[in-house]
Amino acid sequence: MKIPFAESFKIKMVEPIRSSTRKEREEWIKEAHYNVFLLNADQVFIDLLTDSGTGAMSDRQWAAIMAGDESYAGARSFYDFKDAVTRITGFEYVLPTHQGRAAENVLFSYLVKAGDMVPGNSHFDTTKGHIEARRAEAIDCTIDEAKDTQLEHPFKGNVDPAKLEDMLAKHADRVPFIIITVTNNTAGGQPVSMANLRAVRRIADRYRKPILIDGARFAENAYFIKTREEEYADRTIKEITLEMFSLADGMTMSAKKDAIVNIGGFIATRNRDWYEGARTFCIQFEGYLTYGGMAGRDMAALAVGLDENTEFDNLATRIKQVAYLGKKLDEYGVPYQRPAGGHAIFVDAPKILTHVPKEEFPAQTLTIELYLEAGIRGCEIGYLLADRDPLTRENRFGGLDLLRLAIPRRVYTNNHMDVVAAALKNVHDRREQIPRGVRITKEAELMRHFTVELERL
Ligand code: F0G
Repeated sequence: MKIPFAESFKIKMVEPIRSSTRKEREEWIKEAHYNVFLLNADQVFIDLLTDSGTGAMSDRQWAAIMAGDESYAGARSFYDFKDAVTRITGFEYVLPTHQGRAAENVLFSYLVKAGDMVPGNSHFDTTKGHIEARRAEAIDCTIDEAKDTQLEHPFKGNVDPAKLEDMLAKHADRVPFIIITVTNNTAGGQPVSMANLRAVRRIADRYRKPILIDGARFAENAYFIKTREEEYADRTIKEITLEMFSLADGMTMSAKKDAIVNIGGFIATRNRDWYEGARTFCIQFEGYLTYGGMAGRDMAALAVGLDENTEFDNLATRIKQVAYLGKKLDEYGVPYQRPAGGHAIFVDAPKILTHVPKEEFPAQTLTIELYLEAGIRGCEIGYLLADRDPLTRENRFGGLDLLRLAIPRRVYTNNHMDVVAAALKNVHDRREQIPRGVRITKEAELMRHFTVELERL
């Protein structure tokens, strides 16, 4: 008999979770204005809101926490962290920040000016927010294949070289850099191929533009390169990540994802001028250059996490769990962005709630239904998150409308995945009885999905 694949860890510490009744959940979600961000975490049974900062650290990471150096300037933990970043990315200059969006804030304060245009592959919402808040524009050049959830494509996160080329031909003078997000979260945790990174580099060189990688899930991206891009099959994850970053000028990092820490981030670059330009903003917004908003122990855990999570077995364990949930949903006929992503399954809500018009936010409606069904908290990556167009103030209905089930690293078992799949099947089975969605009663101008208040129709 073939020995099945097994997780590359065993469990040393547990945290109890509690299920609830449907009646309780009906009250709680109403009090939360039908916005799952406003729920109390104790009101959630299985929390798939995000894979950010929610992972389980290893025993080696916890050991590093105890040995953190909390010196204000020149802490040993900073140098351990900086060395780990340089070893894994090849970038010489490193600025710590408290998380990914802080890295964006610091670097973009130096790089992005009003009137600029920043092309890339589906900028993450905080990235877009930091660009738009500076009265610049984020231009999405993701391949069209990413918009068809049922199409199988190994690298649905890719940049479309023709779109990028066209954009640069028209507006190169307004472009401070090109951003590539690996994996492409918004398109469904979909990877970017090495071939695509090379193609973008060639175009960037022609227009003499630097490339910034948003590396929140760079290690998961490297796993997909290894398993889907033939010439990389025999390369280690660490060799692949070094090559990925060799094609860029710098990166912003939310270490809360692929470095498996609860808080942390950084900017890393080979460009001395980026480092020197961003440095003062780091001190102004984050903290002195050798801690940037993190405690010494956070940097210590980050260094270990980066090293551990650029090992194949750890990534295989993680990504196979996401695929396991995808396979269950296949059995039940629940449509999602195919193939399964690196950190999450993105359920195609309008394909399920066919009666709910887009103006009533199908993915948000499905998010609420899944919570009511079994206390599972996913989140909408769709029309609410897309915000309104800054000029016309119209809702942006042009993209996908997805319910994201983000899986924290090393936290839940496949048994929990079975529960999630069964709950979603039940909602799917009664989809005909869900005719209406939700209406906005209160919203913020930017990044409204975090605080939006809704009512059920
Ligand atoms: N870039 C990407 C691709 C992200 O997914 C995130 C965060 C950030 C940047 C910002 O990093 O949260 O550390 O400030 N994504 C989380 C999510 C919040 O749920 O997908 P941060």
